[in-house]
Amino acid sequence: MGMIEIDPMELKVQAADIWLNKWFVLTAGTIEKCNCMTVGWGSFGVMWGKPFTQVVVRPGRYTYEFMEKSDSFTLCSFEDKYKKDVALLGTKSGRDGDKISETGLTLTKSRKVNSPCFNESDLIIECKKIYWQDMEPENFLDKSIFEKYPLKDFHRIYFGEILSVRGEKEFYI
Ligand SMILES: Cc1cc2nc3c(=O)[nH]c(=O)nc-3n(C[C@H](O)[C@H](O)[C@H](O)COP(=O)(O)O)c2cc1C
Repeated sequence: MGMIEIDPMELKVQAADIWLNKWFVLTAGTIEKCNCMTVGWGSFGVMWGKPFTQVVVRPGRYTYEFMEKSDSFTLCSFEDKYKKDVALLGTKSGRDGDKISETGLTLTKSRKVNSPCFNESDLIIECKKIYWQDMEPENFLDKSIFEKYPLKDFHRIYFGEILSVRGEKEFYI
């Protein structure tokens, strides 16, 4: 069928499964200079009347530097045949070399934001950064959350307003 434009308010995803099992590649920067990494935690919803996605990035990630400098980011998901490539982007750091060139994935310009996306994606979500906040450990009511932070590298939370969605049929029917 191929990729079609989807109204951000009409995007259909399995709320937990898409993050936990399908994963996304988060990319920030420009097509000339960007970095990307795999993300498995996040959410979609509505905030301040806008469709948004929320991602969380630990400060040690190279992608964090690009998230800070950029006014946008993209989230791309992929069919299972690209799982190994997506896993590589989530285990190697762009600090140590051009990890994208070690995969079968190729960057392309986005429609509405500067941060690029991937030609091979089955779902491309383009976002404008609208809010950030650092996680505050004193607010962890469930103490088991501390187990996720042995290095105390608490995530920075970013909200992105969804400006454009393109995806395969499963994401709009
Ligand atoms: C399945 C999976 C999910 C991940 N989810 C996140 C996440 O939500 N936030 C985060 O900071 N790191 C996450 N990571 C770790 C980063 O993707 C990983 O550290 C990556 O190598 C960072 O690359 P960079 O240094 O080029 O930014 C995840 C890794 C995998 C494999």
